[in-house]
Amino acid sequence: MWVQNHGAKSGSSSFRGRREPYDASLSTGSEVTVKANEIEHQRWNDERWAALWPKRERLTDAVTGFVLAAAALRRGERVLDVGSGGGRTALAAALAVGADGTVVGADLSAPLSELATRRASEAGAANVTFQVVDMQTDTVAGQPFDVALSQFGVMFFDEPITAFGNIRAHLKPGGRIAFACWQAGERNPWFFASAIAELLPLPAAPAPGKSPTGPFALADPEQTSGILRSAGFLDVRCTAHDLAVDAPQDSVVDEAQLAFMGVPPDKLGAAAMAVAEHMQQFALSPTLSRFPIAFQVFQATNP
Ligand SMILES: C[S@@+](CC[C@H](N)C(=O)[O-])C[C@H]1O[C@@H](n2cnc3c(N)ncnc32)[C@H](O)[C@@H]1O
Repeated sequence: MWVQNHGAKSGSSSFRGRREPYDASLSTGSEVTVKANEIEHQRWNDERWAALWPKRERLTDAVTGFVLAAAALRRGERVLDVGSGGGRTALAAALAVGADGTVVGADLSAPLSELATRRASEAGAANVTFQVVDMQTDTVAGQPFDVALSQFGVMFFDEPITAFGNIRAHLKPGGRIAFACWQAGERNPWFFASAIAELLPLPAAPAPGKSPTGPFALADPEQTSGILRSAGFLDVRCTAHDLAVDAPQDSVVDEAQLAFMGVPPDKLGAAAMAVAEHMQQFALSPTLSRFPIAFQVFQATNP
C-alpha cells in the first residue's frame, strides 16, 4: 500500500519528473538546501499514484471511527484534517460537527485534494473544504481550529517536531489533536515489502538533519510521544488497536504498486510471484482477503 521511500529517491524511474529533488532557489552560495518533504511531494502528486488511492482506502476505512471517537467532535467545532487525502475522513468529521461546524482538509497532494473536493460536492457537504498545503511548513486558512485530526496523514514529515509544532500553532488554546498511525511493520504483515526485500532498491537515506518518512515512521509510541511533547503538546496518550479488515487483495498491492516501489521492470514477474505467495495467508476467497491491521491512536492537548 505505502512505501517507505523505497525507489522514491531522485533518479528512480518511479518518481522521476515533475519536480527537481533539490530547489536551487533555496540554495545559499554553494550550499544546496533540501526542500521540505521533497520525496513525499513527488509521491503524492504523482497522478498515477493518486489514481490508485481509492483502491487503497478500502484497507483503512474501518479506522475512521476510531479517529473520530478519539477526536470527540462536538457540533459547531472547527476541524483541521491533516493529510486529508481523498477526503473520506474529513467528510465523516463534517457530519459529526454539523452544519454549524467546519472542516478543512489540508494535504500536499493536488490530485487527491481534487478528488476530495469532488466527493464533497457530490455529497452536498457545504461545510468542508480542502487546501493544498504542506502541513510542516505552510499556514492553513481558517484557523484557529478546535481540533486537528488525521488518519494516517502525519507519518510523512521529514521534520516531525516542526510539523507537529505547526499543527499545534493552528489550534486554539485548549484545542486537541487525535490521529491514527501504524504500529510497527512486524505487526502489520499485510505490508509485503519484506517478501520482496531483495528486489527493491535500498531506501534513500534522509538528508542531513531530516527524519525518515513513511508509513511506520511514528510506530514507536515512546518516540512519537516525545515528538508531540517537543512540539509543545500536553497530556499525550496512545491507544493501540488491532482489527481484521476484509477487503480485496488489491487494496494492498497490485503490479502498479510494485513498479512504484522501484522494482526494476525485468524483476516485476519475480516480485509479483513472491507477493502472491506472501498474500496467500490472507486469502478468504479468490476475490477477498482478511488483513490483520495494527494501528495506534494518539491524543494530546494544546496548552
Ligand atoms: C496515507 S495517506 C492518508 C490519506 C487519508 N487521510 C486517508 O486516510 O485515506 C497520507 C496523506 O498525507 C498527505 N501528506 C503527506 N505529507 C504531507 C504534508 N507534509 N502535509 C500535508 N499532507 C501530507 C499525502 O498527500 C496523503 O494524502
